[in-house]
Amino acid sequence: MAELRGSFSSRIGFIAAAAGSAVGLGNIWKFPYETGTHGGAAFLLVYIFCAFVICMPIMVAEITMGRHAQLNPHGTFKKLGGGKWGIVGIIGIIAGVMILSFYNVVAGWAFGYFLQIGFGDLLNQPDAADRLAHFLAQHPDKTAANFSFYGDYFGTYIANVTDNLIFSLAFMIGTAAIVAGGVQKGIERWTKILMPALVVVIVGLIIYALTLPNAMEGIRFYLVPDFTKIDSVTVYKALSQAFFSLSLGMGALITYGSYFGKKDNIVSSAAIVTGADLTIAFLAGLLIFPLVFFQGMAPSEGPGLVFVALPAIFADMGPFMGRLIGGGFFLLLCFAALTSTISLLEVPVSYVTDEFKMKRKTGVILFATLIFVVGLPSMLSQGAVPWLTEFVTYGGQTRDFMTVVIDLFSDIALPLGGLLISLFVAYRWRIFRLSDEIEQGHPRFKGSFGEKFITIMLSVVSPLVVAVVLLETILQKFFGATLF
Ligand code: TRP
Repeated sequence: MAELRGSFSSRIGFIAAAAGSAVGLGNIWKFPYETGTHGGAAFLLVYIFCAFVICMPIMVAEITMGRHAQLNPHGTFKKLGGGKWGIVGIIGIIAGVMILSFYNVVAGWAFGYFLQIGFGDLLNQPDAADRLAHFLAQHPDKTAANFSFYGDYFGTYIANVTDNLIFSLAFMIGTAAIVAGGVQKGIERWTKILMPALVVVIVGLIIYALTLPNAMEGIRFYLVPDFTKIDSVTVYKALSQAFFSLSLGMGALITYGSYFGKKDNIVSSAAIVTGADLTIAFLAGLLIFPLVFFQGMAPSEGPGLVFVALPAIFADMGPFMGRLIGGGFFLLLCFAALTSTISLLEVPVSYVTDEFKMKRKTGVILFATLIFVVGLPSMLSQGAVPWLTEFVTYGGQTRDFMTVVIDLFSDIALPLGGLLISLFVAYRWRIFRLSDEIEQGHPRFKGSFGEKFITIMLSVVSPLVVAVVLLETILQKFFGATLF
């Protein structure tokens, strides 16, 4: 081996890195808007079920495979399954590359918001009068009451080329610098401080949000389920969101698992990571929905939800507190995103260092550049370039380039990866080998309830549920049809 493979110094190091990978824009940006668009509390319930019941066993499987093989996803599948199984690892690596390509763009938005709230004059609502006039001229049927400064601002912001180019490039360079230094250094220390800080800021903001008028309407929307709102879109969005948020289905956790100590307990670590991820997503919802209802926004606003709902509140806090709390919030969001982008970049890098004995630094430069370039069309598809913004129409909806990437590589590739991982472990690698590996850091695992649960889930329930939901996803998305 050209370079020694790294490893985490302790179980806590692994948990910090895996939870850092899980907690990110998926929790704070994506989860609230998916929840808002797909049924509120009903979505939340399905989501919790997907995360703990369907996904957690798959997380155990990924980590265990990686630790057993001590390799990247491609190497792991090839070593444990032989021959063609390596392709599954390759698909995962490609999915990771594509996910990072758009994720880095959104991280760039968060970075831009941090700078403009913390140091710029976003909270003073610059050029509000001009924007309103422009809005009214564009929409003769609307009045000033329909105008939302931060809604309009977000729309123009993501269509702006220069800012996005600079900030997402900065974000990719930051990610690359950390991955070049090796995953284990730094992550552990940072995550242990920054994650609790993020929780403190969010909880503080929740308390503030709950005192606002109409907050309870938001809470009702978020916590009192209306089961008539559960349809197949709710289910497939919740499942793919669970995979995305847990960093599951493309081998990120195979890779991190390969750095995990043999004496450590995989099952309890996976439970902690899942719990931490779910907690942060849950808190993000608890913060956003009261704000959304307070401001009279539609919860189904879409990807702009947090970028629109939050700045208005920070502006209300006054110039000093707004900068401090608002800037702090977006800064912590950037760090949460950074510990996720690190895990995404680590996957292709571990592949080329393991399989082609490439130097880590070379692999980092290669993939950071490639992924940044692949992300450019996603960046430009948010209004900057018309043909990318209205890229294709399928299932009766016109989609921008970024949405197509999310559809293919997040909504479809991740559950597909999860399906293949469970089938692989249950029917090719076999559960007894999984149990042997887990047992090394978890005496008395064999014969335990946990083992029985994981066995049933991986061999029957998860593959069945994921396969049906995946079929439904594809039918709905591309053909506008449905199984049910
Ligand atoms: N889970 C991260 C988030 O919620 C994103 C992420 C990191 C990811 N690594 C991943 C998503 C691997 C899918 C696969 O922000």
